[in-house]
Amino acid sequence: MLRTRTAPAVRLAEYTPPLYQAGAVSIRVRLHPTDTEVDVTTTYLAAHGRETSPPLVLDGEDLVLEGVLLNNAQLPSDAYEATPNSFTLTAPPNETFTLTIRTRVNPSANTRLMGLYRSNGVYCTQCEADGFRRISYFLDRPDVMATYRVRIEADAAECPVLLANGNPTEAGELPGGRHFAVWDDPHPKPCYLFAMVGGDLGGIHDRFRTSEGRDVALGIYVEKGKEAQAGYAMEALKASMRWDEQVFARAYDLDVFNIVAVSDFNMGAMENKGLNIFNDKYVLASADTATDADYMLIEAIIAHEYFHNWTGNRITCRDWFQLCLKEGLTVFRDQEFTSDMRSRAVKRIQDAKELKARQFVEDAGPLSHPVRPSAYREINNLYTATVYEKGAEVIRMLKRLIGADAFAAGMDLYFRRHDGDAATIEQFLACFAETSGRSLDQFALWYAQAGTPQVVATRSYDADLRRLTIRLRQETPPTPDEAEKKPLVLPVLFGVASPGRPSSQDDLYVLDAAEGEIIVDDVAADAVPSLFRDFSAPVNFEIDLTDRDLRTLAAEDGDAFNRWQALQMLAMRQLKRMTSAFREGGTADPGPAVSEAVAAVLACAQADPAFAALAMALPGELDIAREIGRDVDPDAVFLARRTLGRSVGRTLADAALKVYADTPASALYKPDALSAGRRALRNAVLDLAVTGDSPEALDLARRQFAEAGNMTDRFAALAILARKDMAGRDAALASFEQRHGGSPLVMDKWFSLQAALPEAGTLDRVRRLMSHPAFSLANPNRARSLIGGFAMSNPTQFNRADGSGFVFVAEMALKIDKANPQVAARIMTAFRSWRTLETGRRAKAQETLHRLANEGSLSRDMRDIVDRSLA
Ligand code: TRP
Ligand code: ZN
Repeated sequence: MLRTRTAPAVRLAEYTPPLYQAGAVSIRVRLHPTDTEVDVTTTYLAAHGRETSPPLVLDGEDLVLEGVLLNNAQLPSDAYEATPNSFTLTAPPNETFTLTIRTRVNPSANTRLMGLYRSNGVYCTQCEADGFRRISYFLDRPDVMATYRVRIEADAAECPVLLANGNPTEAGELPGGRHFAVWDDPHPKPCYLFAMVGGDLGGIHDRFRTSEGRDVALGIYVEKGKEAQAGYAMEALKASMRWDEQVFARAYDLDVFNIVAVSDFNMGAMENKGLNIFNDKYVLASADTATDADYMLIEAIIAHEYFHNWTGNRITCRDWFQLCLKEGLTVFRDQEFTSDMRSRAVKRIQDAKELKARQFVEDAGPLSHPVRPSAYREINNLYTATVYEKGAEVIRMLKRLIGADAFAAGMDLYFRRHDGDAATIEQFLACFAETSGRSLDQFALWYAQAGTPQVVATRSYDADLRRLTIRLRQETPPTPDEAEKKPLVLPVLFGVASPGRPSSQDDLYVLDAAEGEIIVDDVAADAVPSLFRDFSAPVNFEIDLTDRDLRTLAAEDGDAFNRWQALQMLAMRQLKRMTSAFREGGTADPGPAVSEAVAAVLACAQADPAFAALAMALPGELDIAREIGRDVDPDAVFLARRTLGRSVGRTLADAALKVYADTPASALYKPDALSAGRRALRNAVLDLAVTGDSPEALDLARRQFAEAGNMTDRFAALAILARKDMAGRDAALASFEQRHGGSPLVMDKWFSLQAALPEAGTLDRVRRLMSHPAFSLANPNRARSLIGGFAMSNPTQFNRADGSGFVFVAEMALKIDKANPQVAARIMTAFRSWRTLETGRRAKAQETLHRLANEGSLSRDMRDIVDRSLA
């Protein structure tokens, strides 16, 4: 069979401004399940400055053209060329002109979920990054910005609700049981922010008065009957609007703001101007169906999309290479929001954990790329942890380096100077260079250079001078795009702690060369350096501390992040030692150090339950594999973690049960941070005691599962039982299924829990579950839960030594690819760490990737991931 061709690379260096601009766009859509007619009338303005107009070339994808008008007159067919994928007006007029293009699209057959599609009977759109071209021929690039007027016509019974961007201006009846609505968006925007929705949706409504005195009508639309589950999202929306006014002085700028939840969605959510469209997973919540983690994510994602109104929409990106301009910045903003709404320290730890788990791993493998890439073959594959999460870290470092005041002034300047622009990273950075009076030239390397810097710290102590010297060396390992790396600007927030003497005094040292030295005077001999407090730079770092030093930091460091980090380092050391012992076929002694450290956490757990829950958790198998980095045997990792976990559990079962009993569990579910923290702690200690084989704990877990009044506690208990109660788990899984079988989002939890079971039978179980009535490979949330869950969260079974885990995931990805390439490509990124495996598994993974690479009909999305994975 013929191998599909690799798409040509798009390069940042080859950017050229558009030859035409779109002034105003007027759209009429006649909705029909299989035969929707779309008329797009665009005013085009020359931007080429040439005497004779060059051809106007519009983007398209799989389009059916029905007619063209130029300045309202029929255009002869020899005046243009059209294929399903492009439209060329050969000789455009020399002055401003309007072009009306009629296309016909089939929303029901749109399985890619890009462009106009139907989800559960609801018409909706997804245009970022390049989905608008699946609706009409257009200059589908973010630096072409226009105002939009949208008239939607639909069957009144099928679509009582008709929404689009902007403000509603007109609505009325039409003959034949149809009706229409007109929406006007006065803010110029790129077409990737276009959105419209039609359907028989339920809604909840509220109002928000902005700091500028605008009275905004808020609406959240969901599947009928689920309105009550949208209440939390509405509260989160109002909190976000208030916060952006208070912290960034950004007020909302339209009279309405709508959110629609749909059940088929490729990503989390989308910031379309005035009409955010969400994966319903990130809107719907009730005590009985959503966990604390779900509530937290809903709050964060509602905020994220809302914050895009300024960072993304009012100021958008010049081109897709600048994606981090909106995404990194908006993630930074939503992280700050969550920190203010909940616990800042806990949020920081969670974000650092996520960054290491997702971005460090991406950066250490074949899919590594800079925060601002310089080339891509498929833009949809660039919505990565590097662009989003590392992009946010870069902004956090910028703020740390220039200080909060210069940062705030820089943001103000950015909003003032670039409002209405399609901007670049250079323009963004220039604002901060100006307000801080500093050159950011070297700092800008964070955007251009891929890879995670490795920092090695060594220390020496001069007893006469009472001087502690810490030598730092940074080095960034090579990545596929670049062998030689330059030193980056690293903000090192640091302090010292001594046994019995807590220290919270921080200093900032900036390491901007390959090597540097921090000198701390007038400290005792037993002072322990605490570096990269608050995770002040996204680096891997190593320091020659003893276990005792780490225990000192865990107990005394004034910085919560580093207290957590010290415990992780301590456990990680032990886990690495044990893994290599098991890898060599030996045995490994867990030793007392980790148990003692966890005991200390339990002893003061009530002071900050959420922190304690995080601090007592051992690094996960994937964390351990990442730190080992090469020749990884996932079975040895699993064994090491299980052995250490059991040892800690046995030692501390009683102490853990005491914490369980002492931690208040409120009868009425509330999703706030303190209540959630208490549940997290109770469930963590319960897990620990059950892991330690305490029969009493197992009884408690069974009771909690049966009696829990909320999903957090019920699901935590189920997860414990599924892994540790071989006799009772089938009954527990069946009872959960019985209770929640009618709720697809809850069944996703049930699927992913089973997909992650670390045992030989799981692959067969996953295969069986694929024919469960609640499963569908066509729904992205289902596919991600079961197939994605297996590929991403089950290191021993995905990486089975016989290669069958790889083969299964590749086969499923190939199947999904036929319908939805974006989702398939995302699942395939599970292979990104294949080169770090031991030789046997590495060969199996490579074989599977090769087989995929030779497939005849890979999508561009899959082709890109598979080719890069093998490069
Ligand atoms: N801009 C969206 C966000 O981060 C991301 C997004 C939603 C997206 N849907 C998409 C990106 C589809 C690519 C394709 O908030
Ligand atoms: Zn975003």
